[in-house]
Amino acid sequence: MPTTRREFLMMTAAAGGALSLGRFEEAIAQRPQIPQAEKPLRILILGGTAFTGPHQIYYALARGHEVTIFNRGRTEPTVHREVFDRVEKLVGDRDDNLEALKGREWDGVIDNSASIPRWVRQSAGLLKGSVDVYLFTSSLSVHADNSKPGMTEDESVATIDDPTIEEVTGETYGALKALCEEETRKAFPDGAIIVRPHLIVGPGDRSDRWTYWPVRVARGGEVMAPGTPNDPTQYIDARDLAEFDIHLIEQRAIGTYSGVGPLSRLSMAELLYGMRAVVSNEISFTWVDAEFLAEHEVAPWAEMTAWLPPVGEYAGFCLFDNSRAVAAGLKYRPLAVTAKDTLDWWATLPEERRTSPRTGLAAEKEARVLAAWHARQAEG
Ligand SMILES: NC(=O)c1ccc[n+]([C@@H]2O[C@H](COP(=O)([O-])OP(=O)(O)OC[C@H]3O[C@@H](n4cnc5c(N)ncnc54)[C@H](OP(=O)(O)O)[C@@H]3O)[C@@H](O)[C@H]2O)c1
Repeated sequence: MPTTRREFLMMTAAAGGALSLGRFEEAIAQRPQIPQAEKPLRILILGGTAFTGPHQIYYALARGHEVTIFNRGRTEPTVHREVFDRVEKLVGDRDDNLEALKGREWDGVIDNSASIPRWVRQSAGLLKGSVDVYLFTSSLSVHADNSKPGMTEDESVATIDDPTIEEVTGETYGALKALCEEETRKAFPDGAIIVRPHLIVGPGDRSDRWTYWPVRVARGGEVMAPGTPNDPTQYIDARDLAEFDIHLIEQRAIGTYSGVGPLSRLSMAELLYGMRAVVSNEISFTWVDAEFLAEHEVAPWAEMTAWLPPVGEYAGFCLFDNSRAVAAGLKYRPLAVTAKDTLDWWATLPEERRTSPRTGLAAEKEARVLAAWHARQAEG
């Protein structure tokens, strides 16, 4: 006889003989602490297959909700593949084909896939009246000024001279996301939820930004660490974000939230030593100051990821206030869990993907800059 919920679900799945059913039930059984929602909802996710989407789907299904996804059918998920035969799939294009959404009703929509206001205007305009709440995944990049530590959701957002621009670049991204937020609030004056994530991290991340660090720490040896050990860093685990999104929809918690963690201030030293706790190897950290890194053309954020020198215009970029989101129910996994799960997921990727990371510092460059740093130190 099965003695645990997990055993029961696995037996039931095996009896049904359906491999996909077994995989989903097994995945759900690994999180037996997820209770069913009081009321099952119909949730539409615009997007759903890249990074945060699969985690949103997994959690929504585990809570007992029904999920529909809308995308072009191009992106292949690298995580939670087991959920995709449990969702309704609608095919279309945010740019010019929303036919599949017409005449349909949902309780809530999560809009992950828009960074230009026209896309939100079109989809929110079409869905208003047939959807109760519209959650737009924005970004903390909407802030006009990142120089102040402790910024809340109430700070001013970036603007753009020509709001019809549709080219998303480092310069336009924040202001366009801010305009997308406005479109959401305009179409859903009583039903807009805006979530502004910081750097989204964890299993499934396609950017390799935060992933650089656990992978680098796991490789061991002398690790170049940026700035000072006390420089702050922030991020949000995609799973914490996904669970927060679903929770906000369930609670109908209308408003704007900074989706940022961890719970309290985290230094770069705490980040790296926290990652060290999930591996066992020969390792040392050498802290190289921001001026030396700049002299040697080591890029903050792109190469020394999850780090920006906390001075001047970026003095507040890793010190956002999270109290409104925490009060609304945002919960955080421990850093060690995020680091370990990221490493485990990374190990599942094809070798050619792992040997050509998309961001982070190349090993040869790290060795070169470390050698120059030691030579400088030796000169006194
Ligand atoms: N990554 C970060 O650190 C970070 C930080 C702050 C904010 N954000 C925001 O977080 C959001 C979540 O991104 P995600 O990748 O995790 O979401 P996701 O829902 O997992 O994936 C994005 C989806 O958009 C779909 N899509 C792309 N172009 C489309 C189009 N023209 N028409 C219809 N669907 C389209 C993709 O599928 P197809 O390709 O198959 O169409 C994919 O399913 C984004 O809005 C991003 O700006 C990210």
